[in-house]
Amino acid sequence: MAAVAILRVDGGTALRGVLPTLGAKNAALPLLAASLLTAEGETELLAVPRLTDVDVMVEILRTLGAQVAVEPWVNGQQRLCVRAAEPLDTTVPPHLMARMRSSVFLLGPLLARVGRARIAYPGGCDIGSRPIDLHLRGLARMGARIEERDGEIEASAPGGLAGAYIRLDLPSVGATENLMMAAALARGETVIEGAAREPEVVDLARMLNAAGAVVTGAGERVVRVRGVNALGGVRHRVIPDRIEAGTILLAGAATGGEVRVEGPVAPSLEAFIAVLRESGAEVEADADGVEVRGPAEGRAHPVDVRTAPHPGFPTDLQPVLMAYLARAHGTSVVQETIFENRFGHASALVRMGARVRVVGRTAVVDGVERLRGVPVAAGDLRAAGALVVAALGAEGSTDVAGLGHLERGYQDLDARLTALGAKVRRVEGEAARPPTAVPEPAVQAS
Ligand code: UD1
Repeated sequence: MAAVAILRVDGGTALRGVLPTLGAKNAALPLLAASLLTAEGETELLAVPRLTDVDVMVEILRTLGAQVAVEPWVNGQQRLCVRAAEPLDTTVPPHLMARMRSSVFLLGPLLARVGRARIAYPGGCDIGSRPIDLHLRGLARMGARIEERDGEIEASAPGGLAGAYIRLDLPSVGATENLMMAAALARGETVIEGAAREPEVVDLARMLNAAGAVVTGAGERVVRVRGVNALGGVRHRVIPDRIEAGTILLAGAATGGEVRVEGPVAPSLEAFIAVLRESGAEVEADADGVEVRGPAEGRAHPVDVRTAPHPGFPTDLQPVLMAYLARAHGTSVVQETIFENRFGHASALVRMGARVRVVGRTAVVDGVERLRGVPVAAGDLRAAGALVVAALGAEGSTDVAGLGHLERGYQDLDARLTALGAKVRRVEGEAARPPTAVPEPAVQAS
């Protein structure tokens, strides 16, 4: 069994300094899946973050028969080279599927390239039911035959995929990306209406086009893909991680510090930056980076926020924002419109002294003067980011457990925060007190 590990955070230090942005997890994962579309030539990806989700995707690609070379790249990131020559296996092993929801991305590329794919129902963060019906319906429109049994999905398209008109009821990021990849090698044109407009969708289109695909409209509501016979090799740099950057900026704001992230993230963080400003933080954003100066003592003005598909406020920053608002001068209202159960972090914040009432998809956060350090555990990836930010602004020492979640999506977070002056260290083994010693306070939920 792996040793118990926690992050021990001594709060109360205002963070100061500059950090480079890192490559985006949510861009890197579909890009890696897309590497399966290229039979001849190499897909070279730069600025791939070092994360367990990326490791799982690499393991899946290797299991399917691809050769993946992993080399160190700048700022602790990686350079990945994938060769996916014939023959490819088409079954994603269930134990890998269970470790990461994004393995659903393998469906589109495998169907397009080999005409067959078998996956288990996807795992991932526990933030409510996360169906994949839009992925499956879209692929079916393109001629795939989909059978679901015993928790497995078997898809085939013996005669190849054909372009189709697909309307998505919701702008699902994953479904848009999966269908774009499938359509890249399909016969004829595919039109995806109601597509997600996230920057990671645009990054995937950029990579596909550089490999020889014909994708237009990425970043808009209607994406068009004209299928081609084959894709070739490509060299592509992953876009910066706007969610990681936002987390670092919130850590700066919540400690009343002054922090800059270097990298072209500002255009993808407009809604977030507007909320930060409304909260009383000073933000300077330009083409090269974003700089925040937090309000006095890291205590925000209350704000009302509603998550929404891009370009709205990103759901992935909602938990982290709540950690900052927990110490606001007044009451904030946070509405989660993307996921049905994304307030798992609230009970841990309450344990630290926050006042949060959750009613359905709305959380009412009555700001308190201080949070206190206690042992807490994260139940999902962004909850882990939220608890670290709360701990940085809290009094005393907080032990944050659930690092398995943190490491899925935050590369070197302890070292990065330490570089800004935070007192954060990883503690393993006996000294890592489990948080169960503290009784769970009630969070009103319905
Ligand atoms: C991606 C991101 C995740 C982010 C989310 C929303 C990756 C690897 N992950 O996840 O970090 O939180 O976008 O910005 O990029 N839905 C359906 N049917 C489907 C697909 C989705 O009902 O077939 C629903 C989901 O349950 C959810 C909503 O649509 O309520 C948005 O999901 P989606 O955009 O697909 O998120 P992911 O691609 O899984």
